Amino acid sequence: MPKSFATPAMMAAALFLFLCAPRASAQASEIPEGPRPWWKHAVFYEIYPRSFADSNGDGIGDLNGIASKLDYLKDLGVDAIWITPCYPSPQVDFGYDVSDYENIDPMYGTLQDFDHMEHEARQRGIRIIMDFVMNHTSDQHAWFIDSRSSRTAAHRDWYIWRDGQNGGPPNNWTSGFGGSAWKLDPATGQYYYHFFYPQQPDLNWRNPAVEKAMFDVTRWWYKRGVAGFRLDAVETLFEDPNLHDNPVLPGKNAYGDPIEEREYTTKLPELHDVLHDLRKVADEHEAVLIGETWTNNIDELKQYYGAHSDELQMPMDFLFATVNRLSAPAFREQIATVDSAGGWPVYVISNHDMPRSYDRYGDGPHNDAIAKLMAGLYLTLRGTPILYYGEEIGMENNDPKRREDVKDPIGKLGWPEEKGRDGERTPMQWTDGANAGFTRATPWLPVPPSSATHNVASESKDADSILQFYKHLLALRHQNRALLDGDYVPLNPDDPNVLSYLRRYRDEAVLVVLNLSANPQKVRFDLGPQGFPAAKARMLLSTAGQGESAISALSLEPFAVYIAEISK
Ligand code: NOJ
Ligand code: CA
Repeated sequence: MPKSFATPAMMAAALFLFLCAPRASAQASEIPEGPRPWWKHAVFYEIYPRSFADSNGDGIGDLNGIASKLDYLKDLGVDAIWITPCYPSPQVDFGYDVSDYENIDPMYGTLQDFDHMEHEARQRGIRIIMDFVMNHTSDQHAWFIDSRSSRTAAHRDWYIWRDGQNGGPPNNWTSGFGGSAWKLDPATGQYYYHFFYPQQPDLNWRNPAVEKAMFDVTRWWYKRGVAGFRLDAVETLFEDPNLHDNPVLPGKNAYGDPIEEREYTTKLPELHDVLHDLRKVADEHEAVLIGETWTNNIDELKQYYGAHSDELQMPMDFLFATVNRLSAPAFREQIATVDSAGGWPVYVISNHDMPRSYDRYGDGPHNDAIAKLMAGLYLTLRGTPILYYGEEIGMENNDPKRREDVKDPIGKLGWPEEKGRDGERTPMQWTDGANAGFTRATPWLPVPPSSATHNVASESKDADSILQFYKHLLALRHQNRALLDGDYVPLNPDDPNVLSYLRRYRDEAVLVVLNLSANPQKVRFDLGPQGFPAAKARMLLSTAGQGESAISALSLEPFAVYIAEISK
């Protein structure tokens, strides 16, 4: 049985305490318990463990470091943390090459440290989500060591082995990380398949023994108190058993490889059977499955929820994150598409594989205002948000300047076009002191100069900081019924600059108004058609410089956020 957690009502009562900022005037009200699953009202937070907090002075973050920051996370308004892989690993792909799924890498601590962190998190009502690297193992995993030892080894068929063709690899499939996806293993004279690095051989999910062993891994962690998994690279689980060549498109990618349409190596329908069965195991433990679901369109995303809502509860909508400009029409369209898809939307604006949102959306002079604007957007939508560590303080990308400084192998291979992902993985900025308070040693990646101003300690003292804005917004989100459960109702659909919507729950509503432009804007709202003919607005939260004004003639500063409670 899952161990007990604080109820949303208890959390709401506690988080009410935050609602005291000058421009925030949220109303306190306890949310009655409903039949909804916990993850629908939870705020998730992604931690890249190498970079969060270093407790033992080796320049690399660790589990005790995470445990030491749980009060900060609770105070921020986080309900669940997703920790990217912290299992034993040669660290070729910084943990996404797992050599033992049922242990902790010594650089991050021990299983006892994990238990301590999990216990401390539970005390605070914070759940732990682990990263499940399903598609591949490390080449140092005992299964692969056995698999490659001979053609008749017990684990031979746990991976994908094929003969070469005409003195080369079995077909034209390329790796997502550069070069052929096949590597010749001289010991047995066959090639093995790896969608990612050669040190990350793909598991053969057509083999029931693989499925059983991997499902047992999830059971093992559920018993240890884990509340769910983020599923890595789900789209690559299966490949065409007949090895058809992928169609080739004109041009070359950053690695110098021909550009392929990955028709035979990604999104094969068989993967949905695995997700369906994995969900059954999750349901036995009241656990949540979050998908790293790269999709080209809404139909693909819909499939990940399952035909009967029986696959992933939380497939991430990356189409939202790929709206890479502050365009009210573009966001409006994407939100409407996902909101009407039938599942529970999952919003992310950055992660450890994409440049930070601060840089992607920022225009330079207004970066802090835009960081608050993006928070005002994705934290008020109907759905569950997943924050990326440091987003809440406006951390920026710090890309390597020279090839010799690059740590991420794809940056070494693709330099200078592809600089790798080091830039978005730099140490969490806790203070304005040495190494941003992350470590007393030399951090594994350099801290950017912006840590002098953008750090937890300084922003905690500044009422106008990005951090304070996140805290107020998350507190509001936890206690306002319309923000928790209300419908998404778009407003003023033709406005090219201002994105506005209601979150409407029965007779209550919250109005969210976001000026996505660098110019002052004026907007007016007639909420009669939405059931509020004589709407009265009471401001709940707004950005600095954005004061109270009537919704019949609302003046907005550039990049302003205005959030108000609407009553009849
Ligand atoms: C997706 C992960 O997010 C990324 O960091 C990793 O390199 C690949 N999957 C391979 O596991
Ligand atoms: Ca450490």
